[in-house]
Amino acid sequence: MGQVHVIDHPLIQHKLTLMRQVETGAKDFRELLKEIATLMCYEVTRDLPMEEIEIETPICKCKSRVITGKKLGIVPILRAGLGMVDGFVNMIPTCKVGHIGLYRDPVTHEPVEYYCKLPPDVGDREIIVVDPMLATGGSSTDAITMLKEHGCKYIKLVCLVGVQEGIKRVQEAHPDVDIYIAAVDEYLNENKYIVPGLGDAGDRIFGTK
Ligand code: PRP
Ligand code: URA
Repeated sequence: MGQVHVIDHPLIQHKLTLMRQVETGAKDFRELLKEIATLMCYEVTRDLPMEEIEIETPICKCKSRVITGKKLGIVPILRAGLGMVDGFVNMIPTCKVGHIGLYRDPVTHEPVEYYCKLPPDVGDREIIVVDPMLATGGSSTDAITMLKEHGCKYIKLVCLVGVQEGIKRVQEAHPDVDIYIAAVDEYLNENKYIVPGLGDAGDRIFGTK
């Protein structure tokens, strides 16, 4: 079973509290999400393999460590996942970015696919899927399935806020995928929104409500 890493660093928790607040506007919401994504990137990449290479400093030759292994790919689930991309890309400038578009059907709350554009070599990369919200888990589960259909074998999922129900759904469908999350909230309401959550992440990022 994939591991669940709850990243409860004080900086992340403080910024998440600001994001949750109803009076936080779109500009601050976007900035905070980008900052949290940057901080989460630090933890998500902690296990990247390293190798020693020979370099020369102004003083002498020496061995020093660099990241090795598979190239990385970041895949946001549209729309809200877009808010996390810059935080990751700023830290991993050589990564490629794919996009998966899913929206939740307003009646069934199940995800509906409307877009998929992935790098041609996506199957050779270690993929980090980003989406701030893990509610029923349907969107993340389907996005990971789509990536596996494109040949991806090494996938991590990074979310901001989730509930146990969503985590369980992803774990059952994809036991090989580690989940990184900043907060596991209490429950889903009748509209499948996370309680207490932070509302509709896409609407708060893009000001569409
Ligand atoms: C939100 C969110 C996730 C999904 C989570 O997207 O960004 O992708 O809901 O819910 P789930 O775990 O129950 O699938 P939404 O469908 O609202 O689309 P949007 O990002 O375009 O607003
Ligand atoms: N999508 C959101 O944006 N927020 C929720 O609480 C659940 C799904």
